[in-house]
Amino acid sequence: MQTRGAIIRQAPGKYEVVDLELDRPRQNELLVKMVASGLCHSDDHLATGDLPVGSYPFCGGHEGAGVVVEVGPHTLDWAEGDHVVFSFLAGCGRCRWCATGMQNLCDRGASVLVGSRPDDPSSYRMSLDGQAVAQNSGISTFSEHTTVHVSSAVKVDKDLPLDKLCLLGCGVGTGWGAAVNSAEVYPGHTVVVMGVGGIGMNAVQGAAHAGAAHVIAVDPVAFKRETALALGATHAVATMEEGTEIARSFTNGQGADSAIVTTGVVTGEQVAQAFAAIRKAGTCVVTGLGNAMQMGLPINLVELVLYQKRIQGSLFGASSPSSGIPWMIDLYTSGKLKLDELVTTTYSLDQVAQGFEDMHSGKNIRGVILFD
Ligand SMILES: NC(=O)c1ccc[n+]([C@@H]2O[C@H](COP(=O)([O-])OP(=O)(O)OC[C@H]3O[C@@H](n4cnc5c(N)ncnc54)[C@H](O)[C@@H]3O)[C@@H](O)[C@H]2O)c1
Ligand SMILES: [Zn+2]
Ligand SMILES: [Zn+2]
Repeated sequence: MQTRGAIIRQAPGKYEVVDLELDRPRQNELLVKMVASGLCHSDDHLATGDLPVGSYPFCGGHEGAGVVVEVGPHTLDWAEGDHVVFSFLAGCGRCRWCATGMQNLCDRGASVLVGSRPDDPSSYRMSLDGQAVAQNSGISTFSEHTTVHVSSAVKVDKDLPLDKLCLLGCGVGTGWGAAVNSAEVYPGHTVVVMGVGGIGMNAVQGAAHAGAAHVIAVDPVAFKRETALALGATHAVATMEEGTEIARSFTNGQGADSAIVTTGVVTGEQVAQAFAAIRKAGTCVVTGLGNAMQMGLPINLVELVLYQKRIQGSLFGASSPSSGIPWMIDLYTSGKLKLDELVTTTYSLDQVAQGFEDMHSGKNIRGVILFD
């Protein structure tokens, strides 16, 4: 069938909307009409080339929600009309990681930036003038319709607003879990969140839920700092120097219990700043991504060892999408997790490049594409 989607033809490059040919669903696949897609910084990394992909053209988007319009043959548990939130990390349910409660690390993750069918790697679900088009995370949410494997789909109640729930596909669980699961924030803790955009704002919410006494948001953009204060931060400052000083003032000079790095383009220097902000046996969580070729952290190795500090990577907030997304929905419907407040600006699909320009200028907590 025909659809329209936003692709990059190369990196560095810009998203442009083109007419695409889309496969009808095979067994264990769903054809979904998109309702909304968040603009996550990771899609910008693909356009800048920070994160190299398997092949071009590449259809973007990995944070979305929609309605099932066709179910592949012999596909259990799904029906036309079902509402779905996608997970950018598919969960096969059978690999070592899925089987031990670490679905975010599912072996299917290896194909996230490859773009073809994981169960048939030479086959692509999208094409442009006869040329294969790779799908971001196997879902490509910057498309009016998309065909996905059921292992990327989480069914949700039909009375919930998909234009907000789309954020659960990446940003919300990634930030919330970075605080709750990866930093293991505990009541009374002092937490620094470095970079309070779409991900960091949810780390702020997570740290506040977990009972942190002091949640210090650090961001150079004043609007982000103001929003962080409304969503659970107790302090908001422009630089890590100030954030570290405040954390030390509450901890007898020792430093924060944890610091969570959620800046847009992470550098080793930023991680080192967060590492310097934590106390003995504290945790520095790295959630943000930077250039994939960058190596090394300028940290003092003696400080690492003698202060017994921990540097912890975090993918989708170290949570399993199949259980984590419904968990976030429960928090949202009970009024404990803010989603509506995260959506700053909505765009049409044709405005996708504008959405990323607004991300660069610091205008949005989250920009969201709404489909007709
Ligand atoms: N680990 C994962 O599972 C995962 C998932 C999604 C996104 N990400 C990554 O997380 C990062 C954040 O994504 P996002 O969508 O929230 O981006 P964003 O652009 O919405 O937010 C980044 C924020 O960092 C701030 N910032 C920039 N430099 C800073 C500095 N030196 N100190 C403090 N703040 C600074 C910006 O002002 C902005 O508010 C990206 O690198 C993205 O690729 C990781
Ligand atoms: Zn994302
Ligand atoms: Zn798996």
